[in-house]
Amino acid sequence: MNNFTYYNPVKIAFGSGSIAQVADLIPSDVAVMILYGGGSIKKNGVYDQVVSALKNHRCVEFSGIEANPTYETLMQAVEKARAENIGYLLAVGGGSVLDGTKFVAAAIPYKGDAWDIPMSQAKIDSAVPLGAVLTLSATGSEMNCFSVVSHKEKKLKKGWANEKVYPQFSVLDPKVTYSLPDRQVLNGVVDPFVHVTEQYLTYPSQAMVQDNFSEGVLRTLIHYGPRALSEKENYEVRSNLMWAASNALNGLIGSGVPQDWATHMIGHELTVLYGLDHAQTLAVVLPSLLRYKVDKKEEKLAQFAEAVWNIKDGSPREKALGAIDRTEQFFRDVGVKTKLSEYSVAQDAPQVVASRLDSAALGEHRDIKRDDIEAILKMAF
Ligand code: NZQ
Ligand code: ZN
Repeated sequence: MNNFTYYNPVKIAFGSGSIAQVADLIPSDVAVMILYGGGSIKKNGVYDQVVSALKNHRCVEFSGIEANPTYETLMQAVEKARAENIGYLLAVGGGSVLDGTKFVAAAIPYKGDAWDIPMSQAKIDSAVPLGAVLTLSATGSEMNCFSVVSHKEKKLKKGWANEKVYPQFSVLDPKVTYSLPDRQVLNGVVDPFVHVTEQYLTYPSQAMVQDNFSEGVLRTLIHYGPRALSEKENYEVRSNLMWAASNALNGLIGSGVPQDWATHMIGHELTVLYGLDHAQTLAVVLPSLLRYKVDKKEEKLAQFAEAVWNIKDGSPREKALGAIDRTEQFFRDVGVKTKLSEYSVAQDAPQVVASRLDSAALGEHRDIKRDDIEAILKMAF
């Protein structure tokens, strides 16, 4: 196991009815900005619950944060927050609203062009405190300090991280996910699945706690994922999926182990160029990437085969390949396509994406370079 520092200050308020707790979680002497997306929270009752909880706070609203939040939209929130002297931000939505709110929190006090923050991980001295009410469990943004922001004009999608933008709290009420459309429910199975594999399917590092935890999260997603579609209002199903997603990317399973993240880096380009949902890109890239890197990932893939897919027979290579097939089939069974040709993506996508990642050195060995990215995407076509 490698040395590590683990820090996660996010207070979690989990369970049915927990949105009411925001009244006590946010100080009452500051102006609060409630940030949300395209309006789903007005249809499913979440907005009413939040407004009712904050009836004694001075609140202003900012709506319209889009999926894959853009710098252009978020800067409007920054301007409004500065003008209103906002002292606390409350994100109400999925990963996009949460990531966008983290950016706004850092950008409000930032001197200079705030695009520097995602683009070049610019140093930030402070951030406005923030909390979250999660309505779509997938990204883990509710319990980490990562954020992914797109620049519409520049056609860029960039991830950044800073401990100053950890939410102070996140409210997780599984019932608010009952209103999700199937496509978003599936994104909420595939994205955390791949968050785990990015931290688990690398090479052995004698980290049994992290491995067992990772395998447990994967088994939970496999067990409950399909049921989320057939039993839309099953609290047991939604609560387990929600907590699995938080644990997939809250730093715990990634502590002290090598990490990959190549699937995500390639996936972000597919979103920005062709508009695929974040999780859709992952379902396309992961199986091909694992097959391409099977030599170097064989040991962990064989362990994954046994511990998660119950594949006990065959050589390590046979188990490894069997586990990749089962993973791809799982994505397909729940209804997420795994081939680029199944989306409207240009034939030259492998070359175009690879050229945009020209100087990249991805993966746990930093050995996935431009030509490898092109080869992986050709396999995924
Ligand atoms: O905008 P509204 O109207 O709210 O609708 C949203 C949106 O259209 C809808 N939705 C959310 N909760 C709902 C609901 N509809 C009905 N009922 C509900 N309860 O769902 C749509 C998608 O929402 P979005 O927030 O975009 O989805 P997700 O949570 O998958 O977030 C994706 C973003 O997170 C980034 C991705 O790159 C992408 O930009 N990621 C963030 C990470 C992080 N911070 O750690 C890690 C991830 O790997 C990922 O990159
Ligand atoms: Zn992801």
